[in-house]
Amino acid sequence: MEEYLNKSIKEILNQFPEVEDSLNEYNIGCVPCSVGSCLLKDIVEIHNLLPEEELELMARIAKVIYPDREVKIPEIKRKSEARPKEISYSPPMKKLVDEHVLIKRWVAMIPEMIANLDVESEPGRQVIIDGIDFIRSYADKYHHAKEEEILLKYFDESLDIIKTIYEDHENGRAHVKAMLVALDKKDKEAVSEHLNAYQELLTEHIKKEDEILYPWMDRNFSITKIGELFSKFNGKDEEFGDAPKRYEEFINKLEQKFKLKEAVK
Ligand SMILES: [Fe+2]
Ligand SMILES: [Fe+2]
Repeated sequence: MEEYLNKSIKEILNQFPEVEDSLNEYNIGCVPCSVGSCLLKDIVEIHNLLPEEELELMARIAKVIYPDREVKIPEIKRKSEARPKEISYSPPMKKLVDEHVLIKRWVAMIPEMIANLDVESEPGRQVIIDGIDFIRSYADKYHHAKEEEILLKYFDESLDIIKTIYEDHENGRAHVKAMLVALDKKDKEAVSEHLNAYQELLTEHIKKEDEILYPWMDRNFSITKIGELFSKFNGKDEEFGDAPKRYEEFINKLEQKFKLKEAVK
């Protein structure tokens, strides 16, 4: 069993696809994860499994790998202790989680935007242009910059969980770029396609950060580091002045607009 602990989860899943069922039971979504090269031994720590859950999960995986014999489950050394499941974020992480809420509110309106998509008229196109401005300015320059320029720098950037985050951000940027090109060509289908893909990507991405990445990071931060992070985030907030407030108003108005549309229907 020991040798499998040092294998990437992707390799194990390729060889033993049934392992996916065991992982799913513990809400470990390695299959949809774009990288999937975390080592099996790191997974229990990243996903905050309690020691008894870790033993159960490892026993189930061992049964898939060695169906004909009993194997000893090796103890996995962790850098940080498992914490209770109820997520309570440190103040800087709470800031990021709150920013996700505004991004999720825009993302939640994507189906409505697609249903009302008009790439021909100026006001119709403006809805998408304003949305792209929100993503680029709020989600990317403001929120993702806090993650990329500050938060992620505290960790080993060769870790797969960190690489996945960068990769998701890059994929998001590519969809936005493609949306603009499609809008320019008045290609309605392509605009919808990239809006859909962005919704899917960001929904998964935010869930990954809220439920796995941030709690794992919090478990690894000292109180001093948390204070330092908080003041660096405040510095970023100052840089952006009243822009976050303006984007919140933008979202409020957009929600109102779609609600009004709903009432008219
Ligand atoms: Fe992110
Ligand atoms: Fe985020």
